[in-house]
Amino acid sequence: MQTKQKPIRHSIDIEALNSLAVNASNVIQQARSSMLAPESRKSAPVFSSSQLAELCGLDRNRVMYHAKKGDLPSGEREGSSKREWTLEEARVWVRTFRKDVLRDPYLASGTTIAVANYKGGVSKTTSAAALAQGLSLRGHRVLVVDTDPQGSLTTLFGVLPDTEVDENHTILDLCTGEESSIIPAIQKTYWDGIDLVAAAPILFNAEFLLPSRQAKDPNFAFWRVLDAGLEEARNEYDVIIIDTPPSLSYITINALIAADGVLMPLPPNALDFASSAQFWGLFTGVCKSLFAARGENKQYAFVDILLSRVDKADLISNDIRNWIVSAYGPKVLPVEIPKTSIAASASAEFGTVYDMDVGSVQAKTLKRAHDAYELLVDYVEKQIWGVWEANAEAVRKTDSMIANGEI
Ligand SMILES: Nc1ncnc2c1ncn2[C@@H]1O[C@H](COP(=O)(O)OP(=O)(O)O)[C@@H](O)[C@H]1O
Ligand SMILES: [Mg+2]
Repeated sequence: MQTKQKPIRHSIDIEALNSLAVNASNVIQQARSSMLAPESRKSAPVFSSSQLAELCGLDRNRVMYHAKKGDLPSGEREGSSKREWTLEEARVWVRTFRKDVLRDPYLASGTTIAVANYKGGVSKTTSAAALAQGLSLRGHRVLVVDTDPQGSLTTLFGVLPDTEVDENHTILDLCTGEESSIIPAIQKTYWDGIDLVAAAPILFNAEFLLPSRQAKDPNFAFWRVLDAGLEEARNEYDVIIIDTPPSLSYITINALIAADGVLMPLPPNALDFASSAQFWGLFTGVCKSLFAARGENKQYAFVDILLSRVDKADLISNDIRNWIVSAYGPKVLPVEIPKTSIAASASAEFGTVYDMDVGSVQAKTLKRAHDAYELLVDYVEKQIWGVWEANAEAVRKTDSMIANGEI
């Protein structure tokens, strides 16, 4: 016969729960601060002449020719026999040699991309950061907007959400109505060519603020706050990337409404796939009811499903990949991001594959992940060009109508 064991009894009040939160956040803060201590701030990579040649689409001799000629940053470093360019210098080169494929501010405004999926852990934040870095290395000026109160993207860009983010540096002032433009919330990052609107736990208040403003003022459109707030930034940035929280919250709806294109990272497993279907169902339902009364509409230039964290050795995931392709058809991008331990460890160090040294120990694994992201960035860039081309056609048409006195 089993002897009766002593039952375990606890009583935990809210104060006690709160002290758990306080303890945990102290530990996290210490860990993060030691990894991102001011003296060991994140630093952007440097580039060799062959890396620079690749970025600019030149051969190495041509790079050396321009470096010596002196019309572009020379890359000479004191005490070093090898030329090496900082990210900032490399981007000057890239913007020179890729100027024909960069945005013409007269003909097109910046393109906004929301990275969304209401599941957590599907690699939204990692993809948003890598996409921003890849696009900036192609010469574009990128604004990243972190709308997840957890602030993971903010952390990836070297800013600590718990201690270093002032609410004026988040989208909160847009949500309260204190500001009508996101511009005052923008800060520089360690990465030349990428600016940041940060997030912090306080941003969670937006989930109460937005519906309460809506209740007070029926003419208010809670879903257009971010879209309207980005208007000015679209003149200054070529691409705006919004990372979203793992929920279909008021903030996520704002991000989706502000976007020209949506990128949904989706790992090939059954539960994530099922939840992606719910996501689209819920979002379209919300849009229909929001727009019904106002006759508004929304058109996307692209909606991409990105197979993420794909483990080729996992046979079940191969089956599910087929389901995803048959459900989403050509919206599934022709590139997938492999599951790599390197991605997990890079994130532990608060970075992406673009932050890591390709010459490092796990170079092969790193290169595989890096190459996959490069393909993604190339594909997304082509879609962005498509948006700009449509913009340019509309501008030219209007210009010619004005010239002909038709309007
Ligand atoms: N390709 C990958 N392979 C392995 N782990 C990955 C990969 N991409 C992201 N991760 C890891 O998965 C976790 C969740 O990624 P994250 O980008 O934060 O997802 P989300 O923003 O959707 O919650 C992180 O620890 C990250 O390092
Ligand atoms: Mg995230």
